[in-house]
Amino acid sequence: MQKDIKSLLNPALQNIAVYKVEGGQQAEIKLNQNESPFDLPMWLKEEILGEFQQEPWNRYPEILPYRGMKAYADFIGVPVESVLMSNGSNEMLYTIFLACLGPGRKVLIPEPSFSLYEKLAVLLQSRIVGVPMKPGLDFDVEAIMKAAREEQVDFIVLSTPNNPTSKSLSVEEVRAIAACSDAVVLVDEAYIEFSRERSSLELIGELQNVIVLRTMSKALALAGIRIGFAISNPALMQEISKPKIPFASGRLAEITLMRVLANYSLVTDTVSYILNQREQLYQELLSIKDVEVFASDTNFLIIRVADAASVFRSLQNEGILVRNVSGYPLMENCLRFNVGLVEENRRLISKLGAL
Ligand SMILES: Cc1ncc(COP(=O)(O)O)c(C=O)c1O
Repeated sequence: MQKDIKSLLNPALQNIAVYKVEGGQQAEIKLNQNESPFDLPMWLKEEILGEFQQEPWNRYPEILPYRGMKAYADFIGVPVESVLMSNGSNEMLYTIFLACLGPGRKVLIPEPSFSLYEKLAVLLQSRIVGVPMKPGLDFDVEAIMKAAREEQVDFIVLSTPNNPTSKSLSVEEVRAIAACSDAVVLVDEAYIEFSRERSSLELIGELQNVIVLRTMSKALALAGIRIGFAISNPALMQEISKPKIPFASGRLAEITLMRVLANYSLVTDTVSYILNQREQLYQELLSIKDVEVFASDTNFLIIRVADAASVFRSLQNEGILVRNVSGYPLMENCLRFNVGLVEENRRLISKLGAL
């Protein structure tokens, strides 16, 4: 008799799902993955490709992409031993979770937060201590500190600014959380370039248990190239690098990163545009009846509507793809969309206003 294939595998697989993006990844107006609306200019792509052509494609890259790590370390002003580069920050999340968790270990995750955290914790058979956000979606710092102490957690994951709520912790709050327990504290700063708050990078020299995570997929507009970074003290980085996939970053990612960092005004211009449009969208959404809008600290906005599934479908019928985040705790009937091009934002607002 044939065995059930599932019985041959890690039992934790029964508690996680295949990653899916509802509505897919194709749309006329695509606002569902918090990407930048602007691709790199063609002249820069050509420069990058010219350099990439000169590389030996038959040779492995370095085990860790030293050139990219050096460029980023110089850019943020830390020694190269303090950074680790990955193939997107998702890969770094796998690495850091492998280094910090395992059966019987405990991770504190504010809820709702980025879905991959919970998935990795379940896969690694660790216990999740979930701490709900406040009803207005802000972090509950007191509750996080209380749970960290009482549950003696091993690991704390703070996405700030947070996906999907668009709310942030101040660096003082991160410091207080990191100082209140011996847990390793991962501060995922995927959206930091859009934030009013300061980065937690300033804590790295001060607290030995803090790791900052960065991605080049949002403000740096490189989601398709896959670049992430962890930044911490060299001793912790050394340990974190142990479970890392060797050769995970290709030569193209390193070259692209170096060229984009050398032309960083492209990024600051994009960020200024996004912040400006975010404010305009926020003001416009305030005046739409039956739409509640939450103040955002990211490149995306959260709204609450009467029936999120039906609004999602109506927008989709107009070629506008947003994310239905209603399934997350405290986010009933909420939709998420990133700032797009001026014309895309205008069409979104006019459609929402007409519903
Ligand atoms: C909070 C957060 N962390 C990490 C990621 C992963 O980004 P990437 O793997 O593209 O670097 C995302 C992507 O949406 C995110 O929202």
